[in-house]
Amino acid sequence: MIPSPPDVETVTELLRSVIDPELGADIVTLGMVPSVTVSDDGVVSVGVKLTIGGCPLRAQIKKDVETRVAVHPGVTKVKIDWGEMTSEERSNVMLKARWNARENAPNTEVPTTTRILAIASGKGGVGKSSVTVNLAAAIAAAGFTVGVLDADIWGFSVPRLLGIDDRLEAEAVEGHDKPMIIPRTLPMGRGMLKVVSTGFLVDEDTALMWRGLMLNKAVEQFLRDVHWGELDYLLIDMPPGTGDVQMGLARMLPRTDLLIITTPAIAAQKVAARAADMARRSFLRVCGVIENMSSFTCDHGVEYPLFGTGGGQALANEIGVELLGRVPLEPAVAAGGDTGRPVAIDGTGLAATEFRAIARKLIDEVAPPLNMAGCSARMLTMAAAALDAADHPKSA
Ligand SMILES: Nc1ncnc2c1ncn2[C@@H]1O[C@H](COP(=O)(O)OP(=O)(O)OP(=O)(O)O)[C@@H](O)[C@H]1O
Ligand SMILES: [Mg+2]
Repeated sequence: MIPSPPDVETVTELLRSVIDPELGADIVTLGMVPSVTVSDDGVVSVGVKLTIGGCPLRAQIKKDVETRVAVHPGVTKVKIDWGEMTSEERSNVMLKARWNARENAPNTEVPTTTRILAIASGKGGVGKSSVTVNLAAAIAAAGFTVGVLDADIWGFSVPRLLGIDDRLEAEAVEGHDKPMIIPRTLPMGRGMLKVVSTGFLVDEDTALMWRGLMLNKAVEQFLRDVHWGELDYLLIDMPPGTGDVQMGLARMLPRTDLLIITTPAIAAQKVAARAADMARRSFLRVCGVIENMSSFTCDHGVEYPLFGTGGGQALANEIGVELLGRVPLEPAVAAGGDTGRPVAIDGTGLAATEFRAIARKLIDEVAPPLNMAGCSARMLTMAAAALDAADHPKSA
């Protein structure tokens, strides 16, 4: 007797064992299977929507779907109708993947109320580190405690950019059975920076803890063994070519948002594809694009688009996020890096102003602080301070 074909529910159950290895969940749960039909002669047609058409996992998903479904008696043939997700469907899938990852994420020392922003780019030398320290300084100056994690383990530049050459100390911390690394603190306006970089780890005992670590392991260690304490924001300066580190981050801190930095060169198309692909693979949310090294304005007020124009907007459009700002090419930015004093602190030029505007946009709209209770208390303090200042003008 010829076995009868399975019903649609049975096929759907079988498909639940097909896991998208990058997103870490099964394709049914992820909403990647829009249709299943079974004909009387045992031909099963499965609709599979990929997050992107050229998904490198297509062959593997095909094989998995075919082998899982074909094992059922009564199935004579498995057909796959490929489709591609709309950008809305894609972001829903990413959301589900993030939720799954969140449930399985290991413990870190980063408070759950911390807003985490990783500053990344498709290529090196575009100003990730400069943007990181300037945004960190501007956000801190607005009254927040901002962690800066230099995830560029071997090519660290944060210590120089912030003018810190201290060493990190490990200290006993209540509730921990081994000593914890204490970040360097730097008062900044009404707030404060807490900075960690391998550049500080010259102390022998501390350095010992790091010996032989792989790049992504080192970042994991930073997240576990650093006693961050209270933290409104954590800005992570990503190394160039961030594949590994990004995957590690996605596993440890799946709520991380990516800020992608690009230059205005329109050849950003290729970079855009790479950045978007990195985000997809690590299913981290991209919360915005910042164009750096935009046009240079000379002393006579003439604007020169030295590195082209439109790259930031093109990248933002490609990923479907907002272009948060365009930081001009300005010698003061590089000089601020050399003296260890980011221009965003008190610079008066266009770049400094733009850094502060981007920081404002992050705080107010794009990545507002998560600690609402602390925030309103802080707002009261700020309001009181403002009233105080109005009552006692400086000239008085
Ligand atoms: N807006 C700007 N105006 C002028 N100089 C800038 C600007 N942004 C960055 N720079 C300079 O460009 C160089 C590269 O910047 P930065 O080190 O921040 O890039 P990066 O993306 O972190 O590089 P890497 O990929 O090597 O980590 C530095 O010398 C920095 O001072
Ligand atoms: Mg850098």
